[in-house]
Amino acid sequence: MSLIIGRDPEKQLLAEILTSRKAELLAVYGRRRVGKTFLIRTFYAKNLAFEFTGIHNAGFTEQLDNFSKAMRSAAKTRFDRPASWSAAFDILETYLTPLLKQNKQVIFFDEFPWIHTPRSNFLQAFAHF
Ligand SMILES: Nc1ncnc2c1ncn2[C@@H]1O[C@H](COP(=O)(O)OP(=O)(O)OP(=O)(O)O)[C@@H](O)[C@H]1O
Ligand SMILES: [Mg+2]
Repeated sequence: MSLIIGRDPEKQLLAEILTSRKAELLAVYGRRRVGKTFLIRTFYAKNLAFEFTGIHNAGFTEQLDNFSKAMRSAAKTRFDRPASWSAAFDILETYLTPLLKQNKQVIFFDEFPWIHTPRSNFLQAFAHF
């Protein structure tokens, strides 16, 4: 694991989230290059069940294609591009269900604001998930 310099209060919070007995949603925000991605990836290196990064200025199809790639890499099986975000979250849920019977799992959506594109219904599907 790379060394996380400083960030002690943030690390404490990340540790509490991991051991809490309920599902948690954490939003990390801050200036560019301050270490948001590094902190999550490094701290949760052993707990990340799924990681997906929104693409800057890309449309619905490209974001969903990228989601399928992330699913393939996490689950090590083939996934075709889902037709909708709702279908994408169904796939994610099916993948996570057996893992959640063992342990708490961390899923990481990086560059979150880019994932939602007009009429994509990403936010609705995410909220439902
Ligand atoms: N706490 C830290 N300890 C050690 N290195 C760090 C730390 N925070 C950031 N870095 C270094 O700074 C680099 C840039 O951080 P990172 O890419 O995580 O920033 P970011 O906030 O996600 O940026 P962006 O807004 O562009 O996505 C990291 O790859 C890492 O090398
Ligand atoms: Mg980042």
